[in-house]
Amino acid sequence: MPTTSSETASSKTADSPPRLEVSGLTVTFGGLTALDDVSFTVADGETVALIGPNGAGKTTVFNAVCGLVRTRRGEIRVGGVPAPSSTTGLLGAGVSRTLQGLGLFEHLTVLENVLVPLTSVGTSTGTSTDAAQEVLGTLGLSDLAAVPAGTLPYPERKRVALARALVTRPRLLLLDEPAGGLGATDIDQLAQTVRTVSGGGCAVLLVEHHVDFVMDVADRVVVLDFGHVIACGTPDEVRRDPAVEEAYLGVPVSTSGSGISTSSATGAPGREESA
Ligand SMILES: Nc1ncnc2c1ncn2[C@@H]1O[C@H](COP(=O)(O)OP(=O)(O)O)[C@@H](O)[C@H]1O
Ligand SMILES: [Mg+2]
Repeated sequence: MPTTSSETASSKTADSPPRLEVSGLTVTFGGLTALDDVSFTVADGETVALIGPNGAGKTTVFNAVCGLVRTRRGEIRVGGVPAPSSTTGLLGAGVSRTLQGLGLFEHLTVLENVLVPLTSVGTSTGTSTDAAQEVLGTLGLSDLAAVPAGTLPYPERKRVALARALVTRPRLLLLDEPAGGLGATDIDQLAQTVRTVSGGGCAVLLVEHHVDFVMDVADRVVVLDFGHVIACGTPDEVRRDPAVEEAYLGVPVSTSGSGISTSSATGAPGREESA
């Protein structure tokens, strides 16, 4: 049963619509129900983490928000209106996402990569370059602006992908495993960036296996299991929820080095291990 409290149910902006509202979302692939009646919201300035075992449906939620999979039932609203499904429509609605595979143009420079989304919405060259230089500065990438993205180590490439998502000044930012493959220092820096972005009013939805990071940055956590929302609440509420422990096969969701954080190493929480 989902955990809710009046505090978490009424998000930070009581009188305006949530930045993202997913209601009754159901997605099927042939005979497989990947998402079944999934509902949650993300308010402006709020960071919500979507967690759950592999195959739970996390990526499908992202793809549904971005119009990449057909929804069978339910509704996705951005800023109170139905979510656009085209890339330019999404950018116009203030939606940005990073991809798990980064999706950088390896032969283009860091600056050129960051300019791509601005080019696709037709921002003038001067304005674009200023915006790109600013976001590169914020993420500590200025010195690498002229370097081909493909030559950089993974943590820097990951920051370039984040810069590309931020350059359009999104109002809703979707981050797919932003901490994956990063070391402690880079994760701390990422957490700081997420806090700054959400502090500026952006709604952040992230999918992440790295539980320490989730517990650090998320205002609320939505737990998916087999396409169902099994818990939703503050990190503390979710950590104490028996249904969440059950989904992770009796492994308590603790903050350090155990429980579902082991999934960050294996990518697969212990469901199989208990069999
Ligand atoms: N394009 C697709 N076609 C068929 N099945 C899919 C497709 N995308 C996802 N699935 C299935 O839907 C379920 C949820 O997948 P996914 O959203 O990728 O889970 P998660 O991101 O939580 O690991 C899985 O059983 C997966 O195999
Ligand atoms: Mg996934």
